[in-house]
Formats: sequence, C-alpha cells, structure tokens
Amino acid sequence: MPAATGDLSLTECESLFLKGLTHIMRKKVTIVGSGNVGATAAHWIASKELADVVLIDIIEGVPQGKGLDLLEAMPVAKCDSHIIGTNDYKDTANSDIVVITAGIPRKPGMSRDDLLNTNYNIMKAVVGEVVRHSPNCILIIVSNPLDAMAQAAFKLSGFPRERVIGMAGVLDSARFRAFIADELKVSVENVTAFVLGGHGDTMVPLGRYSTVAGIPITELIEKSKLEALIQRTRDGGAEIVKYLKTGSAYYAPSAATAEMVEAILKDKKKILPCAAYLEGEYGIRGLFIGVPVKLGTKGIEQIVEIKLTPEEKAGLDKSANAVKELCGVIGV
Ligand code: NAI
Ligand code: 2OP
Repeated sequence: MPAATGDLSLTECESLFLKGLTHIMRKKVTIVGSGNVGATAAHWIASKELADVVLIDIIEGVPQGKGLDLLEAMPVAKCDSHIIGTNDYKDTANSDIVVITAGIPRKPGMSRDDLLNTNYNIMKAVVGEVVRHSPNCILIIVSNPLDAMAQAAFKLSGFPRERVIGMAGVLDSARFRAFIADELKVSVENVTAFVLGGHGDTMVPLGRYSTVAGIPITELIEKSKLEALIQRTRDGGAEIVKYLKTGSAYYAPSAATAEMVEAILKDKKKILPCAAYLEGEYGIRGLFIGVPVKLGTKGIEQIVEIKLTPEEKAGLDKSANAVKELCGVIGV
C-alpha cells in the first residue's frame, strides 16, 4: 500500500493543504431568523465569501431548505463559503459574528414601535442561547424597533458595548444616498450621506455632512428639494411596506448588514453610522442611538463625535427621548 500521500504530486498535496487551511481560517457568521432579511443577508455574506454561514430559525425546515439552496448556488457564484440551516444552537457554536433578525416585521399601518413587546420576548429567547454557544461573538442586531432591541440585547447578553451593534444607519444612509444620486443623476459611488439618531420617524439625516464627490449637497440641491429627500429617507421603510403589504424591506437592510459584517471581519476600520451604546458621547448616557462608529475586528473601535448645530443636536435629543421611552416600556 502506498503512503496516504504517495499517489499525489507535491502540487496536489500543497493545494489540498492550502484548501484545508482556507477552510480552517474562514470565519463563522450565524444569522438568527431565516426570514426575508436573514436569508438575504446570508446570500450577500456567502456570495462575498466573507464567512461560513449558519442560518437558524424556530420554524423547522425553513433554515435547512434556504441554507441548502444557498449552498447549491455557491458553485455558480464561484464561492467556497459553506452554508447550513438548523434549529439547533449547537450548530452555531463559536461564531465570530451573530446577526439577530428574528422577529416580526411591520405590516401596513404598523410603526416599528408596534413590534416592541413581541420582538422583546423573541430577543429574550434568542440572546441567552447565542451567548451560551458563542460567548466571544460580536452581536449585530437588526430586529425592530432597532435601538430598543439593541439595548435589550446589550443588557441580556452582558457583553461589553463594543460587541453589540445595531444596524440601521447604514440602511437609512443608503436610502438617502440612493435618492440623492437619483436626483442629481450621478453615480451612487460619488455620494456619501450621514443619518444619525434612532431608526424611526425621528431619525436625523444630516444634509450638511452629505456630499457628492466631496461637495456638500447643500450646495447642489435647493433647500425645499433637499427637505423632501430627507423626509423620503425618514419614510423609507414605510414606503416599501406600503408596496409589499405583507412585510417590510429586506434587500437594502441585508446589504447594509453585510457591509457591517465585512467591515468587522476584514478589520477595515470603516466609519459607518450604527446604533451604539453611548456613555456620555453626544451628551447622551446609557442609551443606544445611531452615531458614526469605527468598525473593525473588535467591533465598535471608536465612537466618532462630530460637531452638530443646535438644530441637529435638538433633533438627536428628540430621537434619543423616543428610544428612551421605548426602552422604559420593556424595562431595559
Ligand atoms: P420575516 O418574518 O421574514 O423573518 C423573521 C424570522 O424570524 C422568521 O423566519 C421567524 O420564524 C423568525 N423567528 C421568530 N422568532 C424566532 C426565534 N425565537 N428564534 C429564531 N427565529 C425566530 O421578517 P424580516 O423581514 O426578515 O424582518 C426581521 C426583523 O428585522 C423585523 O423585526 C423587522 O422589522 C426588522 N428589520 C429591521 C431593519 C433595520 O433597519 N434595523 C430593516 C428591515 C427589517
Ligand atoms: C425598514 O426601515 C422595516 O426598519 C425596516 O425598512
């Protein structure tokens, strides 16, 4: 009998070894909730080959089916990410990042805040399991109402604040960027935009810090038009719900989530608007709210404080009060 590697050339051995190495080195991302946002986030993450992905849900069969379907798409996408679906948290063990999308979405006429109690109960069921199986992970919260759910996950997990991050600002800014690019007929790549505050009707899109190729949009779009774009951004989620009728947006939300996952896994030190637990920054203490943060391998590596006008600061405070009220209702 030849030795185990006797029939293989050196190059074949090296290639097998390297294949094993890449497999070992690939990061692991769990997505809790395999509905619209969860499954589509898995799609973005796997097709960018950012990590192996575990989809988990309480519904039997759905994560398994979607996970297998995605796995079967990988040869076409030329990606080696491995994807599984499960109902068992054991399969999520030692994830680097856990994205929580579990929860009910909005229906027409509902606000994000109408989801509060149901989604808090789901968060209570999920976070304990996540922490038990992946005690060192970074949590990205997506379930709504976003800022209150991030606060709940932070309190329930006992994680340090740099490892609990809420996804909303990247989505809200992406909507604002899309509307600006459309209005000015320029590439979306030229447009940067900032949206601060809670993910709700009180969010604060900052025209002054939004630019096209470095030029402030306040110099390119007249005031009333800009106000209309800002209002459309605030209503961005509701606009989609009105069309879909049975649920809420998921392509842009999941793409935004994947951007955060990428920034962390690739240690990009990328400045993105995310919900973070403030401890005095922006004059706010003990509350999750959307602010610019630096995302890298440790999660939130810095909260970036920018100068706000009195009007912008008043907008942020109003938004923070709305989040505080929701947190008060569920006692987090
Ligand atoms: P969906 O209904 O398509 O999926 C939610 C999934 O969560 C379902 O498959 C459900 O079975 C699962 N789930 C429920 N309880 C669970 C539990 N205890 N453990 C595991 N899975 C559980 O809803 P969709 O559209 O994916 O939205 C998910 C959440 O994300 C909603 O709360 C929605 O409002 C929120 N959202 C937040 C955004 C943001 O910007 N932060 C943007 C878009 C959605
Ligand atoms: C959105 O903004 C529903 O929060 C979700 O589309």
